[in-house]
Amino acid sequence: EPVRNQRNQEQVRIRRNNGHTASAKKTKKAKEPEAPILYEDPPDKMTSKDGRDANMKITSWNVDGLRAWVKKKGLDWVREEAPDVLCLQETKCGEKDLPAEITSMPEYPHKYWAVSDDKQGYSGVAMLCKTEPINVTYGIGKEEHDKEGRVITAEFPNFYLVTAYVPNSGRGLVRLDYRKTWDVDFQAYLSELDMQKPLVLCGDLNVAHQEIDLKNPKGNKKNAGFTPEEREGFSQLLSNGFVDSFRELYPDQTHAYSFWTYMMNSRGKNVGWRLDYFLLSSGLLPGLCDSKIRNQAMGSDHCPITLHIAV
Ligand SMILES: *[C@@H]1O[C@H](CO)[C@@H](O)[C@H](O)[C@H]1NC(C)=O
Repeated sequence: EPVRNQRNQEQVRIRRNNGHTASAKKTKKAKEPEAPILYEDPPDKMTSKDGRDANMKITSWNVDGLRAWVKKKGLDWVREEAPDVLCLQETKCGEKDLPAEITSMPEYPHKYWAVSDDKQGYSGVAMLCKTEPINVTYGIGKEEHDKEGRVITAEFPNFYLVTAYVPNSGRGLVRLDYRKTWDVDFQAYLSELDMQKPLVLCGDLNVAHQEIDLKNPKGNKKNAGFTPEEREGFSQLLSNGFVDSFRELYPDQTHAYSFWTYMMNSRGKNVGWRLDYFLLSSGLLPGLCDSKIRNQAMGSDHCPITLHIAV
């Protein structure tokens, strides 16, 4: 038992130190392993600030490979959560390879899939709806971005729902320049939609916005997901009138993450990142009821998030 062993050694050292408590304390502090600080999502709030009951429940989940996620019982969790709309990212699965467990789900008669055109088993998003949208479109209207199956937009009577898997800047930031172009074009797409009808944007936006949104901000400033450029892209969304629903409701909540790398027991230690978001047009803000991080749900390296809203 390494922890106990370490403690015993500390005791020995303290005794040897013979009353030099300051130095004994210092040694101890450096050796003590950090206890993980977990985040417990509070009970769902089903009423908005302006007193309306939630009438729309949307869940978003980066499943990191739909077929593996189905095998890991992701759909059991979905059935229990029972959102009106389920948005998935990183499905990594062509339409012909979709497992019957999901294509035959009677709860969601209206299903929409986008996949990468040329790269098999890469990217891909989906939207499953209980009620049929007025209109569904794919991509953001720019060919250079729309080959990778990253965006689905559904039009509902009172709002647009956009789900996105934003391109990762990659190890060594090899795709950061591309990402910067994406951010500008995606922003323009959203602003144009927003002029017609307010929108909800959900998905893996592949950025932790502020230091509060990841465990190790200091060590990640040059890593994909926390570069100044990516954070600035997110800030631009906010200054264009979109609101980060979770941060709006829980401005000071630390340790609330939606992604943990599979390595180094990161999830167990809650060494994570908040990369998954519900952003709202400011016009929808009065109807915001709650923005949940379902970090108990397993099956991917991301956990699902859920929005309750009155629209
Ligand atoms: C659906 O949206 C597209 C893109 O905005 C538009 O061209 C098309 O006319 C719409 N269809 C319907 C039925 O509204």
